Amino acid sequence: MLDDLDDGERLGRGELEALQLERLRATLRHAYAHVPFYRRSFDAAGVRPQDCRSLADLSRFPFTSKADLRDRYPFGMFAVDRSRVRRIHASSGTTGQPTVVGYTRRDLDVWADVVARSLRAAGARPGHLVHVAYGYGLFTGGLGAHAGAERLGCTVVPASGGMTSRQVRLIQDLRPEVVMVTPSYMLTLLDEFERQGVDPRSTSLRVGLFGAEPWTEEMRREIEERCGIDAVDIYGLSEVIGPGVAQECVETKDGLHVWEDHFFPEVVDPVTGEVLPDGERGELVFTSLTKEAMPVVRYRTRDLSRLLPGTARVFRRMEKVTGRSDDMLVLRGVNLFPTQVEEIVLRTPGLAPHFRLVLTREGRLDALTVRVEARADATAEARQAAARAVEWAVKDGVGVSVAVEVVDPDTLERSEGKIRRVVDLRNGRRTGG
Ligand code: DLL
Repeated sequence: MLDDLDDGERLGRGELEALQLERLRATLRHAYAHVPFYRRSFDAAGVRPQDCRSLADLSRFPFTSKADLRDRYPFGMFAVDRSRVRRIHASSGTTGQPTVVGYTRRDLDVWADVVARSLRAAGARPGHLVHVAYGYGLFTGGLGAHAGAERLGCTVVPASGGMTSRQVRLIQDLRPEVVMVTPSYMLTLLDEFERQGVDPRSTSLRVGLFGAEPWTEEMRREIEERCGIDAVDIYGLSEVIGPGVAQECVETKDGLHVWEDHFFPEVVDPVTGEVLPDGERGELVFTSLTKEAMPVVRYRTRDLSRLLPGTARVFRRMEKVTGRSDDMLVLRGVNLFPTQVEEIVLRTPGLAPHFRLVLTREGRLDALTVRVEARADATAEARQAAARAVEWAVKDGVGVSVAVEVVDPDTLERSEGKIRRVVDLRNGRRTGG
């Protein structure tokens, strides 16, 4: 097994921390020298790159937010001349300005390396066929997965998202061992297999790398059982590089090892910004350690997690991201994450794993309806019982009353990429799907 590790994965903890410090100091110098935003923000905080003498000193440096990136749209965060930038990607930007990110030749190399490492940690090996159903284009999912699979020495099928019946056909004909796709689109694919009368357990697939959106242990079980594969979690964000910031190892499936030789993680209190000790939950913050075109210093992800010691690798793990602070609904003062409902829906008999959270306003109060599909074989009584069970479990587990509407199978729109769970119908708003 050890033979399969790359040089970065073989470092001892002390060697790793020495390398991190060296790279961190170089990143701070690079950002300060070449990005006016970092020069101004470091100056305003009264810190200079040379003040970083230990990894702990990073906490003296100011944060960077999505708004900082947006305000400098498109190329204001670049630290190299635009002519040295080989590739542009952008984050979806559901509201307003998208965020543009850039990569030098070397950045693209590092990215391919970390995705290749992720694939290997998931159990993929050179020679395997990898079906990539993350969207290709400005989204980092497709092209990021693609380059990493090629780097590992796999054969890539660049299926991209959509055209679901063709995906199913391709998987049957080309016989991939590995699939890379959002967990919600994987469910769509599984339904399509079954619709075509094919048992997904009979396919060649052995492992899936699922990410780009939060998903739960219950979803892992659903996918693994229906498809007969290992389902592991891949995490990343375009501002930091794309997929391949952290990856779950197939042998332990115990959270995601952060590829700490390239991305330095911190967890902070989302309100005060104070750095929290490992083990405590808060907001993930990343500093890139090797990026040239667009270094990021203390980038606030809004993703909630906690840091844990390494197991299958020397790198620290991050717990599966349960949600983003942005996705959190506040109902009558109670916080609720869509993943909490996912957990409940997936363990309730009679319900399919397809649901939406519909927000409406009744008078001055927000109300939430969990709209969820019944399984095809659920009787009317089973549906009623399931609705009551979900209502009770949300009330008991989360502490808030919701309505539950069990709808017919195949009536909710299927995901073809990142799913939007919340449909906001308050004040004539109509967002989500
Ligand atoms: O979603 C990169 C990616 C592509 C990751 C494919 C994994 C697989 P963005 O579009 O910039 O980049 O969105 C980043 O998606 O801040 C999280 O909120 C969420 N996210 C990504 N991976 C996971 C995951 C890509 N494994 C945002 N679990 C992040 C939970 C995830 N949330």
